[in-house]
Amino acid sequence: MHEDQPTALTPVQTAVLESVAPHTRHDPYRAYEVLRAAGPFVLGPLGTQLVPGYREADEIMQNPAWSHAEESELLHPNSDVELPGSFLWMEPPDHTRLRGLVSKAFTMRTVEGLRARTEQVVADLMDKVLAEQEVDLLESLAYPLPLTMVCELLGVPVDAHEHVRHMSAGIARGLDPDALLSPEELAARTTAVHDFTSFFGDLLAERRKNPQDDLISRLVRAEAEGARMSPTELLGTLLILVVAGHETTVNLIGNGVLALIRNPDQFALLKSDPDLAAPAADEILRYDAPVHLTTRTARAEITVSGRTFQPGDAVIVLFGSANRDPQAFPDPDRLDLTRYAAGKKTNRHLSFGLGLHYCIGAPLARLEMEMTLRAIATRVAGFTLHQDPPPYRPNLVVRGMSALPVHVRPEETR
Ligand code: HEM
Repeated sequence: MHEDQPTALTPVQTAVLESVAPHTRHDPYRAYEVLRAAGPFVLGPLGTQLVPGYREADEIMQNPAWSHAEESELLHPNSDVELPGSFLWMEPPDHTRLRGLVSKAFTMRTVEGLRARTEQVVADLMDKVLAEQEVDLLESLAYPLPLTMVCELLGVPVDAHEHVRHMSAGIARGLDPDALLSPEELAARTTAVHDFTSFFGDLLAERRKNPQDDLISRLVRAEAEGARMSPTELLGTLLILVVAGHETTVNLIGNGVLALIRNPDQFALLKSDPDLAAPAADEILRYDAPVHLTTRTARAEITVSGRTFQPGDAVIVLFGSANRDPQAFPDPDRLDLTRYAAGKKTNRHLSFGLGLHYCIGAPLARLEMEMTLRAIATRVAGFTLHQDPPPYRPNLVVRGMSALPVHVRPEETR
């Protein structure tokens, strides 16, 4: 629209634009409120229906007649690079086959075995944070923890962790709709995917010759023992584990610290009872979701809340909005660290998705967040936020800050 033309947008159209605009990335929740009030479905950008409410989001995510395999066509029509085949964008039987090959590494039981190591990584990072006191918490805590955990799990050598971080940042930004990406960002995505393919291609070749006790070696062995997995699928599996495995958790940690700073009563509550760390992790996931949306495409004629979708019709499910739906969560804009405490009846949040593609890394993400919150509760007396709101990355799908500059006051008793 030209600047000299009168603007004739309705409040709902404005909210649709605001929900994706970079300048509202620090708070898309006001726009979501308008969308939810407008009805269960709102025509969004890309000609698809937005799904802002909890009931419909929950129903769509659970119904396997809604496919996730068409997301690339929908969001990335201009992609000049094939993202290797990750099972996040596949349907059964391929999805079942590939997810089955890695699911053992992420069961609650296996992940529980990482508790001591996670605690150690958090403790080391906190030592540095508390010694420095003036820090960007994203750089000093939120990034290194999940990056270290996922790289160790896969078997990426320590000196390559930063390279992995750089590549996945380019890919994570590239998950947003192409229409929102600058030519530089599109080019950066292409480079990142090429670099990723080349780096992990070399690492796979190395592990084939010299297997270790890590997930990459186990995948290579499964492949050698006849598991049906093409080289592209193997790379795609690594890509989704790396990108989904830390870009998301970074934001969970960052969003969580910000939420505690802004809600001193809840910070005090956590400090008085560090065992609240586990339920608090879920409340923070609900309150400020690290992944704000996904897409689904109807594979059959499906009716949801009175609206009939035809095969091929696409929707954008707004997790961030569904999690704040007052129909599902009383007082949804309030951070209540006891909301998910044992014995309380609360609707599940949708931050890990639901159904077939439910996040395989949920136990690991929860563990990393729990250990972080425990360390904060016992070792940090308080934070001073230097900029509110802090700067945000433009990313829409995997939403979060670009920096979280704070002063950290150590707990004196330690
Ligand atoms: C706070 C952290 C995390 C959040 C918020 C998150 C969120 C999500 C969401 C929303 C989905 C479903 C997407 C959809 O259905 O369209 C998903 C899937 C997935 N996540 Fe996570 N995730 C997190 C951490 C992790 C970690 C730590 C890993 C692995 C190390 C991981 C690996 C995956 C994989 C592989 C899938 C695809 C599952 C499938 O298609 O079957 N995620 N995640």
